[in-house]
Amino acid sequence: MGIPLRWSWFAVFSCLLCMGCGVWCNCTEEGMQIEGGHYTLTKQMRRGSMMIYHCPENFYPFPALTRLCQLDGSWKPRPQRFKPQRCRIVECPDPNVLVEGNVLPPQEKYFVDNETTYECYTGYTMRGSSRRVCLPNGKWSGSTPICSRDSGANCADPGVPAGASRIGNVFGIDDTVKYSCNGKLFLVGSKERVCRESGQWTGKEPACYYKHTYDSPLEVSEAFGSAIEQSLATLDPLGKSQDVMLIL
Ligand SMILES: *[C@@H]1O[C@H](CO)[C@@H](O)[C@H](O)[C@H]1NC(C)=O
Ligand SMILES: *[C@@H]1O[C@H](CO)[C@@H](O)[C@H](O)[C@H]1NC(C)=O
Repeated sequence: MGIPLRWSWFAVFSCLLCMGCGVWCNCTEEGMQIEGGHYTLTKQMRRGSMMIYHCPENFYPFPALTRLCQLDGSWKPRPQRFKPQRCRIVECPDPNVLVEGNVLPPQEKYFVDNETTYECYTGYTMRGSSRRVCLPNGKWSGSTPICSRDSGANCADPGVPAGASRIGNVFGIDDTVKYSCNGKLFLVGSKERVCRESGQWTGKEPACYYKHTYDSPLEVSEAFGSAIEQSLATLDPLGKSQDVMLIL
């Protein structure tokens, strides 16, 4: 007499689990290198360990910032053969959104340390920064340059932040402007602003960010409200000295 059928199935199943690393397997480091950078691990190659990529200043890890070692011994997200992990130079959002003015030099893309200057057409006056530098965190230094003419409207021209588009060009009481971010950028701040009787716009000037843009937890909580401050603090795998990744 052999063992009952269901027990033999159980044995086969358990064995498959062992062989397929269903229970005990560690992740491997094979093929996980990052070109131009290095990685650290929170729990060596054990499951639940996080692989954190590091790049030199002015560069960021692409396509992944981190990977997680899963129960079955695979990394999530999985490395992609045709998108090798590497360090990419930091880019800032497109500043060529200035209405009634010029952006110099004209470039298709703006990278870290690239400088831009802004000038208004005749008859327009400038508010904001006339010179900006693309910073290592993917943001422009200073504030949004705005070229405007006194139109007698209640509110001042609220401008267009780098990387954004605006709908709405009338700035009287109760008039609304709407913003969206171009391409793969995402918006932080107010999507919509209304001109108040007081001459102030409601909300907060929006900004367009790349996913890789790093923010200090403080900045993030200011932008999103303190409710998420706690969750970000506990999420932060990089420690206090490093910035936290913003996942939306
Ligand atoms: C998994 O890795 C840990 C530490 O890196 C090691 O102690 C353990 O023996 C490994 N387990 C297997 C099944 O390889
Ligand atoms: C912008 O930055 C890139 C990358 O560092 C550099 O190759 C390029 O020369 C810079 N452009 C200008 C106008 O400084």
